[in-house]
Amino acid sequence: MSEFRITRTLPEDAMAAALRADVRNGLTSDPKTLPPKWFYDARGSELFEQITELPEYYPTRAEREILAGRAAEIAAALPARTLVELGSGSSEKTRHLIDALPRLHTYIPVDVSDTALEQAGRALVAERPGLSVHALIADFTAALTLPHSPGPRLLAFLGGTIGNLLPGERAEFLASVRALLSPGDALLLGTDLVKAEEVLVRAYDDAAGVTAAFNKNVLSVVNRELGADFEPDAFDHVALWDATNEWIEMRLRSRTTQTVKVPALDLAVHFAAGEELRTEVSAKFREDGVSAELAAAGLGLERWWTDGEERFALSLSVAR
Ligand SMILES: C[S@@+](CC[C@H](N)C(=O)[O-])C[C@H]1O[C@@H](n2cnc3c(N)ncnc32)[C@H](O)[C@@H]1O
Repeated sequence: MSEFRITRTLPEDAMAAALRADVRNGLTSDPKTLPPKWFYDARGSELFEQITELPEYYPTRAEREILAGRAAEIAAALPARTLVELGSGSSEKTRHLIDALPRLHTYIPVDVSDTALEQAGRALVAERPGLSVHALIADFTAALTLPHSPGPRLLAFLGGTIGNLLPGERAEFLASVRALLSPGDALLLGTDLVKAEEVLVRAYDDAAGVTAAFNKNVLSVVNRELGADFEPDAFDHVALWDATNEWIEMRLRSRTTQTVKVPALDLAVHFAAGEELRTEVSAKFREDGVSAELAAAGLGLERWWTDGEERFALSLSVAR
């Protein structure tokens, strides 16, 4: 029998408190920042799904190509009974893994977006008789406790989402992932690779303006949740390549001098004309860097697969 359960690991008031703290810290720092996890309300999750279909946004297609071609190899290396997926979103590409794992008993998608989890989880149990889906509404950067389920466990972190963490946050995150794994469990990690600047920038600044709408959506989230009066169209979407850090930055550039009120925080935020608010970094990787970061967390990289054009990589590290 299929089964779908959804559990909120963080009470709603704790999520609200985290948003308030992030907005206060981010909008009073210099330069101003907001963390990318707040993009993903129902509209943000929907816009991200549209981004994955854009001609310029190659990462989803490249990672799907690897999963479609290598799922059987992954399943042979780690015949998981439980598949945990962090930042699972629509779980669309994950179906390749689910179908390749003959002994899979439980799928545990973890995401901050309750709407994405509901939609994906309900569709999966309808499509896959016998699969238990236990979705967790949780922040993967906070301490995670996973529900009891049979091992071995494969923990997937796809989409290049690890690149949204800064290097120090990545080290902390990978150490916490290692702590969730028992010997014989494994991490399957998707990483976008360093490539030509124009290809990277176009992927984050598409001609149809969907990524711009996604970027500005964070302002609508702050308006709705904290009563702020951001005017999204008073900001321009900016995507640029930082060659030193090897990451893309998404920013919102104020078109004019303006003051935005955030009543729930009793805050007035001044923007100079042209001032930029950083909303996301998306780090791009090389094999030796991924291997070193995994090793620092006690994880040995055992397999490395790329798509045919070497745009994106999936790596498998087994916990010993
Ligand atoms: C770049 S999208 C990738 C979605 C999907 N894995 C894919 O490959 O298409 C990032 C996903 O991670 C979720 N997310 C972002 N930050 C998160 C956090 N701190 N904790 C849990 N989920 C998070 C978002 O809601 C979104 O579904």
